[in-house]
Amino acid sequence: MKKLLLCPPTFYDIRYEINPWMDINNKIDRQKAQEEYNTLTYALSQLGIEYDELGCNEELPDQVFTTDLGHAENGVFIKANFRYPQRQKEVDIAVDYFRMQGYEIKELPEQIYFEGGDFLKLNDVYVFGYGKRSSKEAAPILEDILNKKIVTVELPDEYYYHLDTCMAPISHETALINTSALHEQDIHKIRSEFRTIIATTEEDNKRLACNLVVFEKDLIMTQGISNELKDTLTHLGFRIITVPMGEYLKGGGSVHCVSMEIYE
Ligand code: ARG
Repeated sequence: MKKLLLCPPTFYDIRYEINPWMDINNKIDRQKAQEEYNTLTYALSQLGIEYDELGCNEELPDQVFTTDLGHAENGVFIKANFRYPQRQKEVDIAVDYFRMQGYEIKELPEQIYFEGGDFLKLNDVYVFGYGKRSSKEAAPILEDILNKKIVTVELPDEYYYHLDTCMAPISHETALINTSALHEQDIHKIRSEFRTIIATTEEDNKRLACNLVVFEKDLIMTQGISNELKDTLTHLGFRIITVPMGEYLKGGGSVHCVSMEIYE
């Protein structure tokens, strides 16, 4: 069973700019965002993916990007330490949510940033990205809390500021990566975990193609990705479901950012 935590776009907006995708003059069409959200949740339901929703707060326009709130696994919630003050209050709502579910709450030292979008897990492989949002120092702390080895990579590109904007592990063997957003030696580290690397094209990167949700052989991806990418994935045995995410792209996120996974 896969379980996600979402937040409806009731107050989603661009009221500040904390990544290069955001432009305060490029406002969110709320109705459209709500329609996109409905399509996504419909797709999740059709696939039998369970999801819960967080309560929305009017003061927190980026709350839709729930993945960033932390990492939830096996009754433990490691809460985010957001780099930008604009997003810090979002964490309290997540902490309340997980506390209500009986989770143990863990936190990193205040000066060490950690955002959930920088932390990917598929089965027993964990990959962490630092540089633009999370601090490098978060990696050994996460390793300690989870008692797992974590592959750590640097994110040098301001457009691909969270790991989930430029990488997606999609099976034991396979990962999608935007190779232009990672250092050669880090791509090498990723290759040692995943036999097949699919390098996304610049055109697909602009749509944040790596920002997807995987559920066994099903991939929920952003509408507008290339047919070449869809074909490559289909040949590997994946089924592709695309959903419109245009309003979320304005905020610098897509399918994965809005779907925090609760690992059980
Ligand atoms: N506007 C949000 C921010 O800059 C977008 C977050 C996207 N989240 C993600 N996991 N990539 O923080």
